[in-house]
Amino acid sequence: MAASLSSDDVIEVRVVSPAESSQLLEFLLEHYYREEPLTVGTSPPSQPDQADRDFLLSHIPNQTCLTLRLKESGRIVAAAVAGSKDANEGQHLEEYAKEFVGTKWGRIVNLLTQVELLSNVCARYQVSHALHIHALGVDASMRGQSLGARVIKAMEEQARKLGYPLICLDCTSIYSAQLVKRLGYQLVSSLKYAEYTNEEGIQLIQVPPPHERVQTYALKL
Ligand code: COA
Repeated sequence: MAASLSSDDVIEVRVVSPAESSQLLEFLLEHYYREEPLTVGTSPPSQPDQADRDFLLSHIPNQTCLTLRLKESGRIVAAAVAGSKDANEGQHLEEYAKEFVGTKWGRIVNLLTQVELLSNVCARYQVSHALHIHALGVDASMRGQSLGARVIKAMEEQARKLGYPLICLDCTSIYSAQLVKRLGYQLVSSLKYAEYTNEEGIQLIQVPPPHERVQTYALKL
């Protein structure tokens, strides 16, 4: 299996169409949300709010959602969801978070807002806009075969095609951070989960080891 998966004869990249949205969601529920550190670290664990699912699927019409599929069966083995942002993304997220106060998605968006304000990649790299990868998942039975790297490389290609000067992602998982570092992405900023606390010093998101921090990485295209 490992050798065959490395061949382009076996796997194809597809831009997700609106008709494929439920297939994408099914894959993400099984192979992304169950393990993604912020979804695991907020209650109820591993159960994404409807608003979170809707947020990811809302990117499909922009042609910034990709799947890797086995050519023979059409089975999805990896997926990535991305969206456009500009230098005002931090303020935009602050406003967006207000709609979800007191919910799981609200707690996640609050953390991502802090991360965005810290990293602010558009200002830092002096670009008008960037493609931000919001979700990345590989079939749990097929990890360690560079499928994550392949879907990221495919997203870079798609970003170039769509005219983006920069691609970036907030790696909430140690595995995605290691992966993009190997692909030559630059570390922009880092926020430890233990240091994300309220005014009483209580940690707001309890992420299990080995994940310790959100690391924002970017690559100029
Ligand atoms: N749990 C345990 N080990 C993992 C792992 C995971 N979630 N993800 C990768 N690994 C291991 C691989 O098995 C491999 O080990 P090996 O060197 O002993 O073979 C090594 O880490 C490198 O794997 P790599 O090929 O870089 O990872 P991948 O592309 O197969 O998968 C992710 C990486 C991040 C896509 C995958 O972990 C995933 O889908 N996680 C769940 C969702 C998530 O957290 N996404 C990232 C949020 S930003």
